[in-house]
Amino acid sequence: MKYRNVAQIVSAQEALEGAGVRIRRTIGTPQLDYLDPFLLLDEFKSTEGADYIAGFPDHPHRGFETVTYMLAGSMRHEDHKGNRGELGPGSVQWMTAGRGIVHSEMPMQEDGLMWGFQLWVNLPAAHKMTAPRYQDIPAEAIPTATTQGGVTLRVVAGTVEGTNGPVEGIATSPLYVDVAVPKDSECVIPVPREHNGFVYVFDGEGVVGEKLLAAGQLGVLSRGQSEAVRLVTTAQPMRLLLLAAKPLDEPMARQGPFVMNTREEIHEAFEDYKRGTFLG
Ligand code: CO
Repeated sequence: MKYRNVAQIVSAQEALEGAGVRIRRTIGTPQLDYLDPFLLLDEFKSTEGADYIAGFPDHPHRGFETVTYMLAGSMRHEDHKGNRGELGPGSVQWMTAGRGIVHSEMPMQEDGLMWGFQLWVNLPAAHKMTAPRYQDIPAEAIPTATTQGGVTLRVVAGTVEGTNGPVEGIATSPLYVDVAVPKDSECVIPVPREHNGFVYVFDGEGVVGEKLLAAGQLGVLSRGQSEAVRLVTTAQPMRLLLLAAKPLDEPMARQGPFVMNTREEIHEAFEDYKRGTFLG
């Protein structure tokens, strides 16, 4: 069997986001601006309150989806309509911003480990102005499959090993899996042939396809005839996110918190936000 290889390796770049939260970015960088439909991937990981305490005060989004996956620590989420919720360890929030939301995401702790990811997923033109939608998934609602080789697969979205993730109804049919590979192990995970995909290693190291990846590195999966990705570890365990989704193949215009199809639509988003008609 032929497996997907890693076509490009992107090492995370440090940046400050929100009101001054230290993050490590791989998608949405000069090295990898856009991996259709993935617009951005940030990892935040710190035990120092100063790295995250400022949080993400009120800010808008239009035209795409934001996905927050927490490994450790807690954040409080609140939007302009009074929707609020708490994101604890192991939980996921899949937010379809659609035509617009204004929200904040603030830490619920002043120190201690805060570790997680924010992913941005583009919406097709036909869904960009849809009504906002939240899928708040508590940790206990995310199922885990374990392979014979002891690899554990936490399935957030899509289907792996007959296990279905709880996130549903997403336009790009995403696969989102948190994979833990023990040392001296291997596993093969099916990835839909027509999907763009990547892995992001966040602990340990291992071989993906034919390339060695270490924590803080993203590997873009090659496209082609193969339908699976192969992960192999030796002396160290490896933990990674495996993501794949249907590419949109549409024109994309982005600026700050807005992702549309044309510059005119971006201009309109800024005008709507300025005029207060953004949320109409
Ligand atoms: Co946001």
